Amino acid sequence: MSKGDLNLLEGDSQLSASTLPPSEAAPQAEVTRRGFLKQSGGAASAAALLSLPKASAAATVPVPATGPAQVLGPGAVPATLLVNGKPQKVMIEPRDTLVTVLRDRLGLLGTKLGCDRGGCGACTVWVAGAPSLACMTLALDVAGLAGQPPQAITTVEGLAKGSVLHPLQQAFVDKDALQCGFCTPGMLMSCAALHEQARAAGKLASVGEKEVREAIAGNLCRCGAYPHIIEAALAAAKLPTAPAPGKGGVK
Ligand code: FES
Ligand code: FES
Repeated sequence: MSKGDLNLLEGDSQLSASTLPPSEAAPQAEVTRRGFLKQSGGAASAAALLSLPKASAAATVPVPATGPAQVLGPGAVPATLLVNGKPQKVMIEPRDTLVTVLRDRLGLLGTKLGCDRGGCGACTVWVAGAPSLACMTLALDVAGLAGQPPQAITTVEGLAKGSVLHPLQQAFVDKDALQCGFCTPGMLMSCAALHEQARAAGKLASVGEKEVREAIAGNLCRCGAYPHIIEAALAAAKLPTAPAPGKGGVK
């Protein structure tokens, strides 16, 4: 929005019946922007409520049993992140996203920061075993604070067991499943989560191309290495004894 648009809006708030041409002037008194927004907003809310199915409209929002919400910040507060099985004490500001804390404070540079708005999947990590976008996760939401245990976070550094690569990582190497490699950590975390879920259900060997495509649907590869990425994920799923990830793996 340009400065000119802003000025127009400011002027709009002063519009009144006396400033309108006769054909547009309302018989009532002054029409202000605030009044207009109140009325139109109220009408929209009422319409939305009326259009809800009965069950939804009647549903009640559960009230948390805990006391008043904890107020943190605006400065950094001491917290603990459980990353790849290790508790890490770190100062976190309420505005810090998980990806910035992982990369800038803990030096875990495997997790990449691409779009920083949930659109590319480069920052994919696991939170409590589920693939999550670290750029869209506030670090304090997954950190341990007074009375709140930390959630287990797994980054790409937690996939390998020491110097032994996770089978998926090895398959990415064997199948040449990367070019620049920027998307690779996120791709690995999405594919590994699929494998873990399939393994838990006893269906790892039957993971197919459709499942792999769905698992990496939120991960963009600007180099277009998709065919080899899918090939690698399928090959790793067929290994007879694909072990669970290293530290901090999914439950
Ligand atoms: S950096 Fe998080 S989705 Fe792109
Ligand atoms: S290998 Fe370059 S973005 Fe995927």
